Amino acid sequence: MEQREQWGSRIGLILAMAGNAIGLGNFLRFPVQAAQNGGGAFMIPYFVSFIVLGIPLMWVEWGIGRYGGVRGHGTAPGIFDALWKNRLAKYVGILGIFLPLVVLIYYTYICSWTLAFSLSSLLDLYPSPETALASASPKEYLLPYQSYLTAYIGADSEGIFLTPHPMAYVFFAITLGIGLTVLAKGISGGIEKLSKFAIPALFIMAFILFFRVITLTSPTDPSFTVSRGFSFLWEPDLSGLLDGKVWLAAAGQIFFTLSLGMGAILTYASYVKKDEDIALDGLSTASLNEFAEVVFGSTIAIVSAVIFFGPGGAREVAEAGAFDLGFISMPAVFGHMPFGRFFGFLWFLLLFFAGLTSIVALSQPVIAFFEDEFGWTRKRSVFWLGIFFVASVTIPMFLKGSLGEMDFWVATFALVILALFEMIIFLWIFGGERAWEEITRGAHIKVPRVFFYIMKYVTPLFLIVILCAWGYQELPKVIGKKGVGVWVARLFLAGLLFAHVAAVRAAWKRRKSA
Ligand code: PHE
Repeated sequence: MEQREQWGSRIGLILAMAGNAIGLGNFLRFPVQAAQNGGGAFMIPYFVSFIVLGIPLMWVEWGIGRYGGVRGHGTAPGIFDALWKNRLAKYVGILGIFLPLVVLIYYTYICSWTLAFSLSSLLDLYPSPETALASASPKEYLLPYQSYLTAYIGADSEGIFLTPHPMAYVFFAITLGIGLTVLAKGISGGIEKLSKFAIPALFIMAFILFFRVITLTSPTDPSFTVSRGFSFLWEPDLSGLLDGKVWLAAAGQIFFTLSLGMGAILTYASYVKKDEDIALDGLSTASLNEFAEVVFGSTIAIVSAVIFFGPGGAREVAEAGAFDLGFISMPAVFGHMPFGRFFGFLWFLLLFFAGLTSIVALSQPVIAFFEDEFGWTRKRSVFWLGIFFVASVTIPMFLKGSLGEMDFWVATFALVILALFEMIIFLWIFGGERAWEEITRGAHIKVPRVFFYIMKYVTPLFLIVILCAWGYQELPKVIGKKGVGVWVARLFLAGLLFAHVAAVRAAWKRRKSA
């Protein structure tokens, strides 16, 4: 077997992993989830989920990733097969390629909006509000910004189709082109290089915006102060503790933001050296991500919205839709300050960098699968990913309701299932002590033994509870959804899953005959 690729340096590895985890989830999804679920009431379930789900799963994915990489496998089908001697193992592992691939389709599209909007800010293309901020409701005031987004993605047309603005294709093509170019250059020559530049740049931009927001004064009401913005999230509120919905949202956010339960961390971890200190590296990845999320992500979007619209208004904006805080309220805030064009540009560029380093992370599993299991070259694998992409993006790009439907099944439901399998296969089938040995081998930090029990018992149990609560609360609502876009998305997901089964079968046939 020829030598698999490896990360070039430890700092490169950590920045790449941080790039994997830090993404649109930190800056767009987190503020919306937090505001929709009661601000302070969200934060306790969020931190509990971080300790009980986030950290253990992070270590488990690093552990099984390194274990698989040493044996020539960088994706869940091959790794599960090595950990669990059962014919079914490789089929369960399909989720570790399928999930990131589906997220990738719409994630890249959304990321391309941020590139377009960074230029919109710089060139000052936003229309001006017709009403004065002080005398209008947030909804009225934000109307022109709302229309700007709606027109860009073409959601203003009648019927089942979206009619994106021509520039949406251009920016999508640019984003995809950049992503594929980086991927074609490989692990250390592409992804690692990109992250070494993009992540430090992202932290600098985030810091500038953070500083700008905490020095704002309200143009509407002097009582909408920065400290009220902070207390929106940081004033502990126990009211969420008994609400299943808040727990589901908090756990879901932890998964999404840390890239867990998808196969993405696992694949990156398969390129580490065999004695890498994964305990410490995993912890660093998680900490960098949380720092970007709860310090920068929350402050920039939420505190600014509170300063402008008050706590009630900020919540209203968050509840209006997944993209309202980031794409609608932020440009309005920037429209009100000196050098607002520049700050708006920074904000969307920050999102673009965050998104781009996650796009390559979502792409790498399928590429690793082609390389490891079919023996394809990297160029050939990237080429086929590109073809697949162009064919599939048409669904969320042109059909109303498809994006939300794909996101729902994959990014809130199926990732919990994959996470549960990872825990069970590693800690129960492969064996608790062996798994612990894998995770702590080469570690310079001492991982508290209590995490062994958390991983073995608490995390899986917590996952099962989440799944049951979720099935009870959300499933009926989702199943009842109607619309052509919804059904096309479902058929697409089913077909793609089927194609994965066929691919895994073919790969294992090939392996037998080799
Ligand atoms: N964690 C990324 C974010 O916060 C999204 C992501 C999920 C990336 C899964 C890779 C794999 O945006």
